[in-house]
Amino acid sequence: MKTLIKNGTVVTATGRSLADVLIDGETIAAVLAPGSSLLGFDIASSVDTVIDAGGKYVIPGGVDAHTHMELPFGGTAASDTFETGTRAAAWGGTTTIIDFAVQTYGQRVMDGLATWHQKAAGNCAIDYAFHQIIGDVTDDSLQAMRSLPDEGITSFKLFMAYPGVFMSDDAQIFKAMQVSADTGMMTMMHAENGPVIDVMVKQLLEQGKTDPYYHGVARAWQMEEEATHRAIMLANLTGAPLYVVHVSAKQAVEQLAAARDVGQNVFAETCPQYLFLSMEEQLGATSDEWGAFEGAKWVCSTPLRSKEEGHQHAMWQSLRTNDVQMVSTDHCPFCMKGQKDLGLGDFSKIPNGIGSVEHRMDLLYQGVVDGQISLERWVEITSTTPARMFGLYGKKGVIQPGADADIVIYDPNGHTSIGYGEGKTHHMNMDHSAWEGFEIDGHVDTVLSRGKVVVDGNQYLGAKGDGQFVKRGLSQYLI
Ligand code: URP
Ligand code: ZN
Ligand code: ZN
Ligand code: ZN
Repeated sequence: MKTLIKNGTVVTATGRSLADVLIDGETIAAVLAPGSSLLGFDIASSVDTVIDAGGKYVIPGGVDAHTHMELPFGGTAASDTFETGTRAAAWGGTTTIIDFAVQTYGQRVMDGLATWHQKAAGNCAIDYAFHQIIGDVTDDSLQAMRSLPDEGITSFKLFMAYPGVFMSDDAQIFKAMQVSADTGMMTMMHAENGPVIDVMVKQLLEQGKTDPYYHGVARAWQMEEEATHRAIMLANLTGAPLYVVHVSAKQAVEQLAAARDVGQNVFAETCPQYLFLSMEEQLGATSDEWGAFEGAKWVCSTPLRSKEEGHQHAMWQSLRTNDVQMVSTDHCPFCMKGQKDLGLGDFSKIPNGIGSVEHRMDLLYQGVVDGQISLERWVEITSTTPARMFGLYGKKGVIQPGADADIVIYDPNGHTSIGYGEGKTHHMNMDHSAWEGFEIDGHVDTVLSRGKVVVDGNQYLGAKGDGQFVKRGLSQYLI
């Protein structure tokens, strides 16, 4: 089966050009000068399918390196399964996710990983890979971690937050980072000072401050900056490559930039919520239905930051300067009814997370329209860098011969109204949208996953099980 995408503008991390893309089976066979003829031979007449991408961008499919499908968390579980979440991702132009397999306290690492394979296998719409959460750093875990690269898992996440659940203390972090330095695996860090945050939570609740807004007050930026600095220093001492997840505080970015300036292998992602949403506007929102509990829709950690303090502005700036290298969603959806509402009267019981896997490509494209980032930078931070960062590049994150034919045709003249309900775009398994009312001056037109058209205009043509597990190599982004 051969497909030709013709007349489009192929956009990569390094430039754009009018070109035709020839796909043979699941793989990109050639990127050709427009006109689709090779030494006088008319290619268009020899393929099975021709897709006209005139006036549209042809980009490598999105790589979302941070999702939590079906994650058990806060007394419930993230509401998207691998089936519903990856289908929504496909609708939004993301063709690979890296989800987090979880080792819980007392569990064996490989058992946690096996559970994640069971959840995902045969259910995904797009290709998927795993990071490994290490929720219990013991001698056994440290030993098991050394065999993760053989399983195609080349990164693990530690938590400096959530004491008694996922948190590792500094000694445990130090030992895990030594494994990271030895093996080349990336250490990923949830950098917030959990013990101090827990004291602040308790004190706020004692003062009767129980609304979602106080989730943001309790998780102060100082505790993100402090933990980010501590993680950087531990990585410096051990030689571990470090990737800080869901960065939201401008002061944390300053710590990251300082480490990078002296040549340390320190990287970071931010998420759409920290680029577009704020503590005042969303965490502090009220509605007729929920009153001040409306803000629960946006309870996530790290929290939405104060717009007045300039964090949002700093996040966009950091994406331009490469102090922050990429954008992932931290997709972790919960419904308001039956999930988020567990925290009515106590913000600390609201399950943490926002659903965005479907909207990342669109939201960041709006950043292009708004003049925040260039078209090429859009492709870089949503696809190419995530692929390089986590050892997928060559197959993913690029349009070149030999790469998987994961391709998005994006229409800059289209329009996307994000939101829950009639005439709007939302395929995630949630009873609300955290992005209600967002209007995007662009539209995901066609999505190919390893050569198969899975989204064609307003039609979903994919099927459960289209997506395969992808073994990753070591990071291709290290200095
Ligand atoms: O609020 C969040 N981020 N939920 C998902 C778990 C995590 O820490 O990434
Ligand atoms: Zn986290
Ligand atoms: Zn997360
Ligand atoms: Zn559409």
